[in-house]
Amino acid sequence: MPLARQPPMIVGNWKMHGVTADLAEMGVIARELLERPTSTEVVICPPATLLATASRCLDGTGIATGGQDCDAKDQGAHTGGVSAAMLVDAGARYVLLGHSERRRLDRETNVDVAAKAAAAFRAKLRPILCVGESAAQRQAGRTLAVLRRQVLRSCPPEAGAGRLTVAYEPVWAIGAGATPAPADIEAAHATIREALSRRYGDASASIRVLYGGSVDGANAPQLLQIAGVDGLLVGRASRRAVQFLPVVRAGETAPPPLDYLPTD
Ligand code: 13P
Repeated sequence: MPLARQPPMIVGNWKMHGVTADLAEMGVIARELLERPTSTEVVICPPATLLATASRCLDGTGIATGGQDCDAKDQGAHTGGVSAAMLVDAGARYVLLGHSERRRLDRETNVDVAAKAAAAFRAKLRPILCVGESAAQRQAGRTLAVLRRQVLRSCPPEAGAGRLTVAYEPVWAIGAGATPAPADIEAAHATIREALSRRYGDASASIRVLYGGSVDGANAPQLLQIAGVDGLLVGRASRRAVQFLPVVRAGETAPPPLDYLPTD
């Protein structure tokens, strides 16, 4: 099969923000991208309560939606649980998994994340699996070892590699208004790619590795120039069209990654 180049992926994570009225912002983003289509792949992950409505609003616009978490079980007696199949039923194509806020606040382990990713694959959802070191781990010089371990332990062996995306989000950079030095991001992404290659062999070539943590319209162009950065995961700057659209547009001028295999 000929090699194809994947466009950068720009993912908005609304976290626990947004009610029905905020879907108007999504409408603005969709209208703008319909008027001037983008070559980037755009995904918006609203809170679960808005997912079905958001998916309907964005249907036919080229913007995909994603959940922010899913259960490891397919169904059952787990009050409050949301299964991967339920996210698909609500129109989602993607699901964020292992976000550091869930790892930290909900005590999710690598094993938990791997089980959720396996559930996502069973439901034909595409996981965007987050990894990243804490400030203490960084200060102790353990960043690359932590990333290697998180990738090897939280990516399930049965991954259809073409359906997996990994996001590098240094915990200390989230919401901080600071990003790592470009050389550090490059080293982190190289380490993640190495671990993915150990995990999945040649099939790992089609996995995109995104950067996340204090991304905005001003720093997106530089971040997307860093070797190994295949897209961006955006928090605060994803909830308003005026902030999110410049990040999406930055993806259009990013150098295309080489040697990618086509995804399904
Ligand atoms: P901020 O862009 O607000 O730093 O959040 C990043 C993030 O956690 C996205 O998942």
